Amino acid sequence: MHHILKTLIYLLALYGAHAIEKNFPALKNDNLLRAARGEPVDRVPVWVMRQAGRYLPEFQEVRKQHDFFTICRTPELACEVTMQPLRRFDLDASIIFSDILVIPQALGMTVEMHAGVGPVFPEPLKTPADLAKLTPEGAVGRLTYVGDAITMMRHMLEGRVPLIGFTGAPWTLMGYMIEGGGSKTMAKSKVWLTDYPEDSKKLLTMLTDAIVDYLEMQVKAGAQLLQIFESSAEHLSKDDFLKWAVPHIKDIRDKLTERLKQQSIPTVPMTLFAKGAGHSLKEQATLGYDVIGLDWTVDPVEARKEVGPNITLQGNLDPQDMYKTPEEVRTLTTEMVRKFGKERYIANLGHGITPQTPIVSMETLVEAVHNAL
Ligand SMILES: *[C@@H]1O[C@H](CO)[C@@H](O)[C@H](O)[C@H]1NC(C)=O
Repeated sequence: MHHILKTLIYLLALYGAHAIEKNFPALKNDNLLRAARGEPVDRVPVWVMRQAGRYLPEFQEVRKQHDFFTICRTPELACEVTMQPLRRFDLDASIIFSDILVIPQALGMTVEMHAGVGPVFPEPLKTPADLAKLTPEGAVGRLTYVGDAITMMRHMLEGRVPLIGFTGAPWTLMGYMIEGGGSKTMAKSKVWLTDYPEDSKKLLTMLTDAIVDYLEMQVKAGAQLLQIFESSAEHLSKDDFLKWAVPHIKDIRDKLTERLKQQSIPTVPMTLFAKGAGHSLKEQATLGYDVIGLDWTVDPVEARKEVGPNITLQGNLDPQDMYKTPEEVRTLTTEMVRKFGKERYIANLGHGITPQTPIVSMETLVEAVHNAL
């Protein structure tokens, strides 16, 4: 009986997702999706990593009243902060407000956001025996609030710009789960890779499977492009990046594509942003991702040579450049866009915007991108 009920609810949810899909408002500005697919654009699309964030006073206001993860878990609040940068700036994309650490939470770990510190895991994974405490069964069912926020946001956007969904990549999530928060060295996680290779692989595979389920759910909920954040790629040597990160990143793309195909659901473009992995752009270009995000250490012209003509590039102004005068921000942005060119390019920063960034820098950046070519 329980099983029949569960199946019924699942089928209803599926039907619901498709029924809602049909009612989404028509997209008015599709430059982001066109750029991702390699089609001509009216203007170079621009969005900014962490564009819904602490540099906005209206975001700070919401944060004063609500805990970080409460905002993530409450679709109305998540949508409100997702909308905030779009009210101020002429952006070409929206990205659902959430956090990469919702996956470790769904796997049963406690994650708290501490002011001035960042995410904290009171009980990180210490030894491989701790893997038994993780709860991969039904993990995606504990993330339906993200799908609800995505669906709500698609309606709120009224087709103004596309909505991006996202996830952390396996190595980056493994790092947080073992270090217990952000780390400057990833020392403990690297010990896992050398001392417990089998268990590391097991954990990375568990994360990969949860991520595929999670992204499938995001597409069904209405995400129009998906970005994978491998933010901690910078801690790995090229060999280790290729060995420990890349196979799982490839699996995510392959398995998700297969999963959607089986259900006759159209795929959406996917972006890989592996911060600090400019050493492996050629390899990244072979993984099936439509867009490769670049950090600011990579030269646009060299990146294009590495990835060839059939990949879209995204990036890559140094977030620290946003502290310069508007004239300097305008000049640097214009130079950057001209180096990348109008084809197969999405303008962005080379990492998330920082909390102290002046609003005028965002205004200048967006305007300069649109006027560069
Ligand atoms: C790029 O795509 C075109 C059209 O599909 C194809 O003919 C060409 O061989 C591709 N180039 C590379 C370098 O993969």
